Amino acid sequence: MKAVILTKTTESTEIKITECPTPAGKPGWVLVHVKAFGMNHSEQILRKSEISAPYIQKPIIPGIECVGEIADASDTAFRAGQKVIALMGGMGREFHGSYAEYALLPAHHVFAVDTNLSWDRLAAITETYFTAWGSLSTCLSLQNSDHLLVRGGTCALGYAAIQIAKALGCKVTATTHRESKMQLLKNCGADAVLLDNGSLKGQASGITKALELVGIKTLKDTMFCMEKGGIVCNTGNLGGVYTWNGFDPIKDIPNGIYLTGFFSNTPTQEVINDIFAFLNTHHLTPHIGKQYLFSDIAKACEDMENGKINGKIVIVMNRY
Ligand SMILES: NC(=O)c1ccc[n+]([C@@H]2O[C@H](COP(=O)([O-])OP(=O)(O)OC[C@H]3O[C@@H](n4cnc5c(N)ncnc54)[C@H](OP(=O)(O)O)[C@@H]3O)[C@@H](O)[C@H]2O)c1
Repeated sequence: MKAVILTKTTESTEIKITECPTPAGKPGWVLVHVKAFGMNHSEQILRKSEISAPYIQKPIIPGIECVGEIADASDTAFRAGQKVIALMGGMGREFHGSYAEYALLPAHHVFAVDTNLSWDRLAAITETYFTAWGSLSTCLSLQNSDHLLVRGGTCALGYAAIQIAKALGCKVTATTHRESKMQLLKNCGADAVLLDNGSLKGQASGITKALELVGIKTLKDTMFCMEKGGIVCNTGNLGGVYTWNGFDPIKDIPNGIYLTGFFSNTPTQEVINDIFAFLNTHHLTPHIGKQYLFSDIAKACEDMENGKINGKIVIVMNRY
């Protein structure tokens, strides 16, 4: 099969597609014929630095998510030809991931989906909508009476969160650090858009729930923008700060404000079913930033690095 195989830190210009053996099935694992996959920042981090860490299997086929069909169900309850999505759980880090024509994946991280969506649209859902959904429902308990702040709205996750929250009936305020992108967020359905210079003090009011995608860099400021009883979910780290050294919960979390975080590592079939039911009920189709053929993966990685694409980058194995 064709695959991207990494052994060391690799620049986007060095990415090559090579031939390697298609993996053989084994008990508890399923072989997925990959039809498409979404690309993620974490794969860029893996390729540029994290690959040196001892917990990364090397060589490694990257890719933390994919959509496709079961090619070999082994001893699992899946059947050959079944439409599935897969994400996380060590995919593309502890075992080979999705930048390949086939992926051998643990059955408990592969999920059946009943949908007529095209492969590219389906690929735009997997990790992004699972993360948006988990952040908004599990962590924020979002209700239609809520006023949601999406801090760092101009990313795939931000667009998905705005779409879901608007479908629920919430009021949504979104932020961007680029004036040129304010209209883009309005077009996505945000009721109000704020230009983020690092402090929203005096700009945001009535916020009951917040999805923090810029991360630690703006988290404290976000918490101080909330109404009493408000909940902040830190899900992203677009600001490039990953840990909060010297974090003092007594002083750093305002009185009566709740702080939570979401990690997409533990998807379940039940939650995947809920997401597809919600998308169906509300007739939502996921937004795609740009689609590339697998043969152009190096270009897709380069465009992601340069922040050129607004929304989810989707790779399709063929023109369907
Ligand atoms: N917790 C989890 O389990 C989980 C799961 C998935 C993703 N994430 C995280 O969620 C975040 C969004 O992921 P994604 O896949 O949706 O990203 P993405 O679509 O690749 O978004 C990247 C874009 O975000 C924009 N951005 C917005 N605010 C930014 C800021 N303050 N600094 C830098 N860039 C900013 C940049 O565009 P402009 O600068 O032009 O606006 C950039 O092009 C990432 O931090 C990702 O690691 C977390």
